[in-house]
Amino acid sequence: MARLIPVSDPADPRLADYVRLRDMNLRKSLEAEHGLFVAEGEKVIRRAAGAGHPVRSLLMSRRWAEPLADLLDGLDAPVYIAADAVLEAITGFQVHRGALASVERLPLPAVDSVLAGARRVLVLEDLVDHANVGSIYRCAAALGIDAIVLSPRCADPLYRRSVKVSMGAVFAIPYARMANWHDDLVKLRATGFTLLALTPDQAATPMDEAATGDRIALLLGSEGDGLSSHWLDEADEAVCIPMSPDAMSAGVDSLNVTAAAAIACHTLSRMVPA
Ligand SMILES: C[S@@+](CC[C@H](N)C(=O)[O-])C[C@H]1O[C@@H](n2cnc3c(N)ncnc32)[C@H](O)[C@@H]1O
Repeated sequence: MARLIPVSDPADPRLADYVRLRDMNLRKSLEAEHGLFVAEGEKVIRRAAGAGHPVRSLLMSRRWAEPLADLLDGLDAPVYIAADAVLEAITGFQVHRGALASVERLPLPAVDSVLAGARRVLVLEDLVDHANVGSIYRCAAALGIDAIVLSPRCADPLYRRSVKVSMGAVFAIPYARMANWHDDLVKLRATGFTLLALTPDQAATPMDEAATGDRIALLLGSEGDGLSSHWLDEADEAVCIPMSPDAMSAGVDSLNVTAAAAIACHTLSRMVPA
């Protein structure tokens, strides 16, 4: 049986995992210090638990306890029940999705181990927007990507917003974080991957005309600056998704990185069939 524990004091230390969920700096340091992340909504909490992440506690308004009863009964964690106003005072926003869970992070695997057996891989360089990262994981899971590699500074896929936007796809795709931004692409190529650098530069090879191989890694750049010149130089080929000839005159010189990822993953699924 779930342990339902009514709480009314937003300063209750048992709720410290949930404070100020929109304060990115606070959350980054708190979550790193305690090795946790926050999952929001029934589906995401189920997927996090199903992926083997231990649940530390849950926090929700009482009306959600019954519809979530089977989930709560299967978890050995305290379930804190609070009024909506208390939830808002703790988290800093109106909690619409019903339930929050504080969940333990698991150690990330090494890059080599997520690449073993993978043939279609995304490599993300220094993305800063958590929603973009979550969205790219969702595209990747939907479009047959085997693994994702993050640059050392790329935004955290387990940040609450990434997890939420991914709808839990962050638990479905194996991923790892590079230790060394400068050298680790070379190691990727050494394991047999052709590196295709996605750039909006329309002088690059259209992606569907690029050289194929048994194993392809697509490099995607950050929202502002795109791929660094170092990564563009390290790639085997720079490739673009052709845009409308009128786009430039309309002031549109690139796609959003998520849109680019979706098109590129779909193209890749034809270049490297399963
Ligand atoms: C918003 S764009 C960055 C724009 C940046 N000014 C640049 O020149 O790269 C973010 C990333 O999305 C991908 N991207 C955007 N538009 C693309 C296109 N038409 N073809 C291929 N990749 C694209 C690239 O990987 C790029 O680094």
